[in-house]
Amino acid sequence: MTETTRPAADVFEKVRTHDRREQLEAAKQADLLPYFRVLASEAGPVVTMEGRETIMLGSNNYLGLTGDPRVKQAARDALETYGTGLTGSRLLNGTTPLHLELERELADWMQTDDVVVYTTGHQANVGALSAVLGPKDTVICDSADHASILDGCKLSGAKLRPFRHNQMEKLEKMLDRATGDGGGVLVVVDGVFSMEGDLCNLPEVVELCERYGARLMVDEAHAVGVLGERGAGSAELFGLEDKVDLRMGTFSKSLASCGGFIAGPGDVIEYLRVSSRPFIFSAASVPAAVGAALGALRVIRSEGRELMDRLLDNARYLRRGFRELGLRVVEPGKLPDGTEATTPVVPVIVGEDWQAVLLWKALYEAGVYTNVAIHPAVPPGGALLRTSLMATHEREHLDRALEIFERTIAQFPDLPRDA
Ligand SMILES: Cc1ncc(COP(=O)(O)O)c(C=O)c1O
Repeated sequence: MTETTRPAADVFEKVRTHDRREQLEAAKQADLLPYFRVLASEAGPVVTMEGRETIMLGSNNYLGLTGDPRVKQAARDALETYGTGLTGSRLLNGTTPLHLELERELADWMQTDDVVVYTTGHQANVGALSAVLGPKDTVICDSADHASILDGCKLSGAKLRPFRHNQMEKLEKMLDRATGDGGGVLVVVDGVFSMEGDLCNLPEVVELCERYGARLMVDEAHAVGVLGERGAGSAELFGLEDKVDLRMGTFSKSLASCGGFIAGPGDVIEYLRVSSRPFIFSAASVPAAVGAALGALRVIRSEGRELMDRLLDNARYLRRGFRELGLRVVEPGKLPDGTEATTPVVPVIVGEDWQAVLLWKALYEAGVYTNVAIHPAVPPGGALLRTSLMATHEREHLDRALEIFERTIAQFPDLPRDA
């Protein structure tokens, strides 16, 4: 170092000065932090959280299969046969017959040539997008797409053209602009949007992609095991499975485990197996996770219809209950026959971040756990309390939750309401 060299700025400075720090500190001091709350039981309809019995309206265990004896047994069997971990990537150290069986059965379920399984859903999106897109390509994303989609797009170096959530004229504008970019074009949407819980307008997205010659990828994380006759997701629901090039799913929701997958044409999936960095350079999912996902998939394929019907009935019931209380809920979108869609995510619109946190805390203290979505998970001023259902919720749980909501919102006169 010469005398004139200045020492480098401290990269940790942002740890002390980031723009959320003050808010986080204030929330912690007042015990208002809605995150990292300790769950001391299975994520069933009623849980033990911080020593109290709480109605769980903040889990993605949509079909309630994380506690299913068959799924647990499948995890146990995999653990006994293959041990606790695979200590390396699928490519070199860790493809078991279970991974291959799971991939075959998922491909059969999704009715695609092939499927590749990743260790997490986040890795599936990052891994697929960073491999199929390059710096000369353009990727067009809905502004409410999951963060892992954005991460994969950024990593790929492709030109990113976001469009306003579910606004088809904005998507068309971006497709039109992308024709001038000169490279390949991929549109990426969520089948069911994770925070808003609304359905993508897939028929129009497909139509526009066809018109402009763009490829289409759909993230079905909140739709597999939930929508469609077979539970294969939003593409199945709309009868558009053969029009969607790539479909992504996770095991961390209906499939009651941890991991993710990409389903699509054989040549693309084979390419991901040899060029997708999060697939090649990260350890394979632990056998128990693969076993549980396969166990859950088999339950869904044999008797999933009944579970999915119960889940969607519960979602309709809670949505109706919220509306009767005057709460404003996010509109879930329309089915092909023009009727209102149902998804397992029923968010209550709150608006301002602090109000959402205070309402969350009041509900939590009264015995209902929900998820708080504040900026940047949602647009500024668009804070939500995200509730989500399980097939295993009984009416009694939902009635109790609605009573608690009714009592609690009486203390929140500024909450957006519908007349
Ligand atoms: C729409 C969507 N895509 C991808 C992911 C990532 O999946 P995972 O949590 O299984 O890594 C999530 C998870 O929250 C999600 O909601």
